[in-house]
Amino acid sequence: MIDLRRQLRDYAGEGWYPFHMPGHKRAADSPAGPDAAIDITEIDGFDDLHHPAGILDEMQKDAARLIGSGTCRFLVNGSTAGILAAVRAAVPKGSAVLVDRRCHLSVYHALILGELVPHYLYPATDPETGIASAPTAADVRNALEAAPELRAVIITSPSYEGVAADVRGIAEAAHAHGACLIVDEAHGAHLPFMDMFPESAVRAGADLVVQSLHKTMPALTQCALLHNCSDRVPQERIDAALDIFQTSSPSYVLMASIGNALRWAEEEPERFTAYGERICRLRGKLAKLERIGLFGGAGPAVEASAYDPGKIVLYDRGGAWDGRALYGRLREEYRLQPEMAAGRYVVLMTSPADTDEGFKRLLAAACEIDRELCESPGVPADAGSGSGNAPAEGAAVRPGHSPERVLTPAEAEDHEKETVPVEKAEGRICGDLIYCYPPGIPLLVPGERIGAEEARALAAEAAELRGVREGKVRVIHG
Ligand SMILES: Cc1ncc(COP(=O)(O)O)c(C=O)c1O
Repeated sequence: MIDLRRQLRDYAGEGWYPFHMPGHKRAADSPAGPDAAIDITEIDGFDDLHHPAGILDEMQKDAARLIGSGTCRFLVNGSTAGILAAVRAAVPKGSAVLVDRRCHLSVYHALILGELVPHYLYPATDPETGIASAPTAADVRNALEAAPELRAVIITSPSYEGVAADVRGIAEAAHAHGACLIVDEAHGAHLPFMDMFPESAVRAGADLVVQSLHKTMPALTQCALLHNCSDRVPQERIDAALDIFQTSSPSYVLMASIGNALRWAEEEPERFTAYGERICRLRGKLAKLERIGLFGGAGPAVEASAYDPGKIVLYDRGGAWDGRALYGRLREEYRLQPEMAAGRYVVLMTSPADTDEGFKRLLAAACEIDRELCESPGVPADAGSGSGNAPAEGAAVRPGHSPERVLTPAEAEDHEKETVPVEKAEGRICGDLIYCYPPGIPLLVPGERIGAEEARALAAEAAELRGVREGKVRVIHG
């Protein structure tokens, strides 16, 4: 893999004066910061991400070879851009699609943009933690048989909490029906490099796979990949969609970061082995705690096909502390910043770039909290309330929750709307996406009727739900 960052640095030292964008002029003392020196636009010798024929073409081909996909495209606007492009490319406007209800916000935006008709797969939830399970191949097969018009299946695997789907089985079910499979593997960019972890969707038969390098690999925020793994979706459609959803000025700093993360993966496979071993040791010890539960169990070998052990999801088995309390305590007492809290659990993200020191601190904190819980089980007096990433309930997918779809998301978007207090929302048709972020899984999608359970959640969690403003929601007029 070409070292784009080094090429940019070399270029910066060659004495070229930039009569071109960006306006910081690559000046070392620019207010744009030190990376301004290597932040260029599409100048001679540096190719064009939207029409790659030089170094970017070569880097993308190397990425596809390394990860094992047919074609790989660099994304500088996160998995969000890849998901919008994948869905746009996979099906014509107005198509019916089967959607894992655990999907991220961006999938619902894709439904709106494509005027698509969604049929949802509602997951079961783990009774102890409330964590949503992945759809099974049988779920997908049954849904496809019930609605032959479905043209694509869109799932998330692994989830925010690390739950992985049987992508092989789901791919077989989708293909037998003549539908393509899009997998949001935003949380699984490390999987192609980890033998002990679940198989990447890229190798498990999915057609289009989107990965956020920035979530679990050492890459800058926004770095992501879109893989085309079969010939079911023409590459020209994907490239045309990427022309819509990616900026016309892709950042070379980000593209160099993508390249460097992949070069690192290629050249230092021992990092991944060490990561697997470190995770295994940590999980082994966490799993022995008495009150603190570890979702997914001890080691990577445990149900490796169903769970990404890199996600450390902790909860209080006794139920006295919720996710927010655990989150607050980890932050305020131990200066450990979790990724998010939801309902009963807290999620800590790891990556092959973690250190032994970080893992030791987490283990020590978990052991102390466990001791405290065992000695004085009850509600923590000073556990802290958590902050930004700590919604009270968070888990948008609730057991038995499947709101009636009255309008498609796109129809609802175009409808006239009015604003009502959440107490008066029951029975009305929702006008906005309503969700906690993270994880960005909607409680309600535009066009869905607000049932009693959703109305209760709107009132109870108004402060944490996006789409609820000052205790009010937008609903379809009339
Ligand atoms: C499951 C899932 N898919 C997609 C995304 C969007 O990824 P990005 O932030 O790279 O755009 C996220 C973001 O958190 C996510 O959790």
